Amino acid sequence: MGTSKAVLHVLSGAVPQFLSSDMCSTNLDLVFYSKCLIKSAKKYGPKYLRSLKCSSMSGCRIESYRSKHLGGGLYRNTTIDRLKLLSCKCQQAESVSGVDTGRGNEAWFVDNAKKTNLNSSINSQNISEFDDAEQLKRENEASISNGKAGTGTSTFAAASVDSIEEEAWELLKASMVYYCGSPVGTIAANDPTSSNVVNYDQVFIRDFIPSGIAFLLKGEYDIVRNFILHTLQLQSWEKTMDCHSPGQGLMPASFKVRTVPLDGDDLATEEVLDPDFGEAAIGRVAPVDSGLWWIILLRAYGKCSGDLSVQERVDVQTGIKMILRLCLADGFDMFPTLLVTDGSCMIDRRMGIHGHPLEIQALFYSALLCAREMLTPEDGSADLLRALNNRLVALSFHIREYYWIDMRKLNEIYRYKTEEYSYDAVNKFNIYPDQISPWLVEWMPNKGGYLIGNLQPAHMDFRFFSLGNLWAVASGLATTAQSHAILDLIEAKWTDLVAEMPFKICYPALEGQEWQIITGCDPKNTPWSYHNGGSWPTLLWQLTVACMKMNRPEIAAKAVSVAEKRLSRDKWPEYYDTKKARFIGKQSQLFQTWSIAGYLVAKLLLADPNAAKILTTEEDSELVNAFSCMISANPRRKRGPKSSKQTYIV
Ligand code: GLC
Repeated sequence: MGTSKAVLHVLSGAVPQFLSSDMCSTNLDLVFYSKCLIKSAKKYGPKYLRSLKCSSMSGCRIESYRSKHLGGGLYRNTTIDRLKLLSCKCQQAESVSGVDTGRGNEAWFVDNAKKTNLNSSINSQNISEFDDAEQLKRENEASISNGKAGTGTSTFAAASVDSIEEEAWELLKASMVYYCGSPVGTIAANDPTSSNVVNYDQVFIRDFIPSGIAFLLKGEYDIVRNFILHTLQLQSWEKTMDCHSPGQGLMPASFKVRTVPLDGDDLATEEVLDPDFGEAAIGRVAPVDSGLWWIILLRAYGKCSGDLSVQERVDVQTGIKMILRLCLADGFDMFPTLLVTDGSCMIDRRMGIHGHPLEIQALFYSALLCAREMLTPEDGSADLLRALNNRLVALSFHIREYYWIDMRKLNEIYRYKTEEYSYDAVNKFNIYPDQISPWLVEWMPNKGGYLIGNLQPAHMDFRFFSLGNLWAVASGLATTAQSHAILDLIEAKWTDLVAEMPFKICYPALEGQEWQIITGCDPKNTPWSYHNGGSWPTLLWQLTVACMKMNRPEIAAKAVSVAEKRLSRDKWPEYYDTKKARFIGKQSQLFQTWSIAGYLVAKLLLADPNAAKILTTEEDSELVNAFSCMISANPRRKRGPKSSKQTYIV
């Protein structure tokens, strides 16, 4: 049956059997549309048609679908090209073979609550009103321990640290968001005292990653699995802004579970998943990082749980391919790096990072390697795999070669000739040496180096962006030598990058006229605040992953001990302000979930460094060979293994 015929068939109500509550997982590309969804769409308009829905009524229970809106009226021109029955029992994603979904989170949370003497009905309100006396006790314990041992390793300090961790777990639990009874994510911030929640009451894809990793490392797989599958359902949603639809494959920045009245019954309600692809976000920017993080989390889920059935599902494979196709699509680019707008990642407002920002490139490289590992070979994917391999090689060459700076390279740039026209120009991007700012001349340590923030024609953004550098280490986008040099630089510049709270999002801040022009006079991004040189505790987890990869855990341990002194006392802020991170950020949310989860992931990885492998990637020999072939073909510099005889065929 052709798609449109099938849609008609379904619209006419010819497939009621799909509404069975035990119609669970399917890998088939079913075309399905439920009657109640249509009714709701009529009543609430297209907005609710776009949402994943789950009614509390028994007769209208399965309604997840993937659709592509081709424009025009709701019924006339809408093609529902694929629909998957996501879950049954109305409430849950289908059970995973080999994974106990029966007890799952519930069991752990009950145990955990018992352990900490907390009632299982604890809510954020209770948690946020943490007893001052308890706090004081903890501080006293810490200061006693510091006085005695000075290392934070005494029993008192250990007890204090334990209670911080316990508190963090409780807060993480309280941040969980449920959809039809199943946990599907964590809310961005859970601050009951905040009068300005903006969109922090949503589940952000990027913010959930540390939460998801913490759950995985704790053996709680269901929430991660549910998150992966539900966000997948949102991936190909109809999404428009002022009549324009972005590319298929885009993952939302965030989603919210809404409870809405059920059509025809004033007393009943239903839950809908309402995604935001950037059309409601500040700046209206599409989140390029969401899909990349989704792939990285999917691989981590498989590696940690041992359950590969999720990544092997046809709809999940399709989801991976859709993200890849969107990223690998031909454009006008001369560079292998992804061209994106300002604010399309963690830094989601204007900060002068449009073009080819390092953060996106590191996540792109990481997601390509993860996807390569997970894609099941099939006839139709040969072209995609070829494009992926080519891009991996070109991307790593480009970043390692052109984004890298250290003292030697800086001196080279300082002496650059400009206006070179030729194929073998040394100064390929026509960088004028005067761009080297005085701060950089002073700042660059003798030992160490880093990847610059962005590279454009005649423009190098020399700012140090932490997430991009840390993930370049974690993913292996940076070479081994470069990775160690990045960690050397972090050690050398500790007072700038860590100071009183890890970790500075970028260094240095934009000030004066530069701030005015580049941020558009953004009052939230004033110098040394928020995205403009603010300090973000969540970055602790990426720092820890990078340190574990390079077998230098002591750096992460030191940063965690700095964070531990304040995080709980300060109520887990989103970010800190000032050059040395002394103040809680001016507009910082409190009880920010990814600050809490980031801390927990760092602690879990310090306890079990091997676990970092679920997040790190390595080049395999094929890629190393391909890279070395490319290096030897480069007239300017030779680097990498020389002895390799194999060639890489793409
Ligand atoms: C801010 C951050 C963004 C984060 C969101 C939710 O907008 O810039 O990275 O995802 O808050 O915490």
